Amino acid sequence: MVSALRGPFLSYTGNPFEADDPSCFHYESDGLILIDRGRIRSAGAYDPAVLPAGVVPVHYPDHLIIPGFIDAHVHYPQMPMIGAHGRQLLDWLNHYVFETEQRYSDIDFARIVAKAFLRESLRAGVTTPITYCTVHPESVDAYFEEASKLGLRTGAGKVMMDRNAPAGLRDTAQTGYDQSKRLAARWHGHGRLFYAVTPRFAPTSTEAQLELAGTLRREINGLYMQTHLSENRAELAWVADLFPASRDYLDVYDRFGLVGRRCLFGHAIHLSEREWARLAEAEATVVHCPTSNLFLGSGLFNLKRALVSANPVRTALGSDLGAGTNFSPLATLAEAYKIAQLRGDALSPHQAFYLATLGSARAIDQAEHIGRIAPGQDADLVVLDPKATPLLAARHGFVTSLEELLFVLMTLGSDRVVRATYVAGYKRHDRDDPAGVAA
Ligand code: GUN
Ligand code: ZN
Repeated sequence: MVSALRGPFLSYTGNPFEADDPSCFHYESDGLILIDRGRIRSAGAYDPAVLPAGVVPVHYPDHLIIPGFIDAHVHYPQMPMIGAHGRQLLDWLNHYVFETEQRYSDIDFARIVAKAFLRESLRAGVTTPITYCTVHPESVDAYFEEASKLGLRTGAGKVMMDRNAPAGLRDTAQTGYDQSKRLAARWHGHGRLFYAVTPRFAPTSTEAQLELAGTLRREINGLYMQTHLSENRAELAWVADLFPASRDYLDVYDRFGLVGRRCLFGHAIHLSEREWARLAEAEATVVHCPTSNLFLGSGLFNLKRALVSANPVRTALGSDLGAGTNFSPLATLAEAYKIAQLRGDALSPHQAFYLATLGSARAIDQAEHIGRIAPGQDADLVVLDPKATPLLAARHGFVTSLEELLFVLMTLGSDRVVRATYVAGYKRHDRDDPAGVAA
């Protein structure tokens, strides 16, 4: 029943956006993590006396074990069209996304993509994705079926869209509500799965649909809500046109009870101070999606306003595939750093790794279960190989501190750096031994 991992590990205990010093993390240069029934039983310095009789730890010397990464905003159905060229948000949606998403009325197609998506996520070290599905309930069933086979802690929801989309991708206010409610009843709280009410974004929902989305959010305890907010300038102008009674973009959602705890807003780039303050007050969450924001030319997210401020806003990290361009949170952090640079701000190595682990866990209200290597936490873990490529191996010879190691990993790193990924204690990805993973 009990298993063990041995090797260097790093886990955050505080928030480096508040105090970026050694008090915010726990690092063991030779650590031992004991795992019992999917959870961490103990985590500390390696001590053979702590090992139960007969338990031989899996040893990762010269690696770095960290909590599994969280990807708090992603679109699994867009995996087949990642890397679509040449357009900004609204044209990109019409030309590429809506074409692809129509295929998910076919549950067999949805299953194939969901499975491939989860395999790629695990290869990148992501153990908790929160994904949009499509408007088709089949796309949600396919996703959660595949995720539950792997025992993942993950969230998803049926996209609600009752206007400004092709006929094959529209529901109605009522069918969107009814189908979402059925799916939430089936999947929310089933194992480690959770459901997110998912109105795509304000322009593709009528007021009636947003109203019912708010109703559903209130009806089921602990439900999440996810949508997009203030990503692109043309989108902002369109929202102002469609909802003249709202004082700003956030207010559209607020009027329907869609701004609060466990409400996840992707992007949040072009916000007024009023909107920031309201997000903070409501304990709502924004999700920073750097590779997507650069790929679509959407803008530069203000991480400093979000997190280094008198009234910080809960902030998580997301890939936003298929506008995002990389499954690897290491690559996402590299772009987050560059966005901060372009704004004249800085993102420290500890702030970055916190953001992809405990910071996101807190922001999505799951820190009770994930985000740390500590007793009682789910045993969702990633083993990073600092010498994964010839370049990394050469660079590693010059690394003199933990902080430098982290920064090199996020600057040069990718899925190749992920040596192994553990989900609830089971090895679900092994870079060097693909056949050696749990079925
Ligand atoms: N806004 C509405 N839908 C989408 C989407 O699928 N991706 C992104 N990046 N923004 C959106
Ligand atoms: Zn998105």
